[in-house]
Amino acid sequence: MTLTDLPFPGSLRERGESKGELPTSLVDRFGRVHRDLRISLTDRCSLRCTYCMPAEGVPWIAKDNLLSTDELVRVAAVAAGLGITEVRLTGGEPLLRRDVVDVVRRMAAIPVRRSSADGGGVSGPRHDMLEVSITTNGLRLAELAPALRDAGLARVNISIDTLRRDRFAELTRRDRLDDVLAGIDASIAAGFAPIKLNAVPMRGVNDDEFADLVRFAVERGAELRFIEQMPLDAGHTWSRAEMVTGEEILGVLSREFALEPVGERGSSPAEVFSIDGGPATVGVIASVTAPFCGACDRVRLTADGQVRNCLFARTEDDLVPILRGGGSDEDLARVLARSIAVKRAGHGIDEPGFLQPSRPMSAIGG
Ligand code: 5AD
Ligand code: SF4
Repeated sequence: MTLTDLPFPGSLRERGESKGELPTSLVDRFGRVHRDLRISLTDRCSLRCTYCMPAEGVPWIAKDNLLSTDELVRVAAVAAGLGITEVRLTGGEPLLRRDVVDVVRRMAAIPVRRSSADGGGVSGPRHDMLEVSITTNGLRLAELAPALRDAGLARVNISIDTLRRDRFAELTRRDRLDDVLAGIDASIAAGFAPIKLNAVPMRGVNDDEFADLVRFAVERGAELRFIEQMPLDAGHTWSRAEMVTGEEILGVLSREFALEPVGERGSSPAEVFSIDGGPATVGVIASVTAPFCGACDRVRLTADGQVRNCLFARTEDDLVPILRGGGSDEDLARVLARSIAVKRAGHGIDEPGFLQPSRPMSAIGG
C-alpha cells in the first residue's frame, strides 16, 4: 500500500483535536494510527559502534535533564490512553539505566485502551497492559535477563553485527563480544525465546559474514534481521552508493540457503523469509531502499523528554515544561497528538535536500 491509498482520516475538528478538545488517538494526516512508543532510557552506551557514535566527545544529556522514572511512566500512561499498545525501550543502551527493571515493571502494569473505536478499522490491542520490549546491545543481559522477564518484559532484540572478536572490537571500539554472546544465551535461558537479533550489514566490515550470522541465529532458534544502514552516524560518512542493500543481502544468502517469503509484510518493517523450508526465518529491513514509512506506527520519546515523530524528524516537541511546570495529562496528550498531526509522509533519505538528524542515533533511540 502506498501513502496515497490510505484513507484520509477527516479534518482535525472531526477527529476531536481542534483547540480545546481532547485528542483520543494518534492518527496522522495520512491515516497512520500510532501504536508503538519508543522510549530512550539513556543516551549513554557501553559500546561505541562506528555507525552510531563518535569515539569521543559525545555531547551527553545532562543528568538533571533526563526524565525521571515517574515522568517516563506518566508519559507512557498518557500515550496508552491515546491508543499506544506497545512500548519499546531503547538507548543508547537501555540496560545502563540503573532502575531499568523497575521501569519495565511499571510500564508493563499500564493498562491499554481496549476499544478500537479510535482508528480506521484497525483491530484493537491484544493485551490488557502495555506490551514492553527492549532493544539492547546485550552486554548486561547475562546479569539482568531473569529479572527483566520477571518484571514482565515481553520481548528482547539484541544487536550483533559480527561474530569475530577482533572485528567486534574494531566496530564497537570495545572488546566485549563474549558479553554479548553470554547475554544472548541468558535471554534464551530466561524464557525470551524466540529472541530477535539485529545486524547492520556494512561493506568491507561484515559483508563476508551474512551466512555465518544466519547460521548462528538458526542454531539458537533466534530470528535474525538485517537492517539496511541508515544515515545516522556521527561522522556523517554514510553513502547511498556504498551501503549494502537488502537485495544484495538476499542475493548472497540465496547462494547458501533456500529462501521463501513468509506471509505479508503488513505493518512490520521486515520482509521475512523461511530458511531451507523453515521453521527458521531471516528478515530484511530495507529501511532505505524500500521504506516502510507508509505503514509507520511509531513515535519516539528521547531520554530528555522530547517527542520525535520520526527517526529523521527535524523538529522535536518538548514535554519537560509540562512535566515539570505543573501541566496536566491533557496537556501532554495535546503535545503528543500535535506532533503526530504534523508527521511527514516519509524519511526522505532519497530526496534532494535530505538532512541527517542533528542528534546521533544514540540520543534518538533505535
Ligand atoms: N542504521 C541502521 N541501524 C542502526 N542501528 C544503529 N544505528 C543504525 C543505522 N545507522 C541499529 C542498531 C540496533 C538498533 C537500535 O538500531 O544496530 O540494532
Ligand atoms: Fe551503543 Fe547501539 Fe549505538 Fe552501538 S548502535 S553505540 S550498541 S547505542
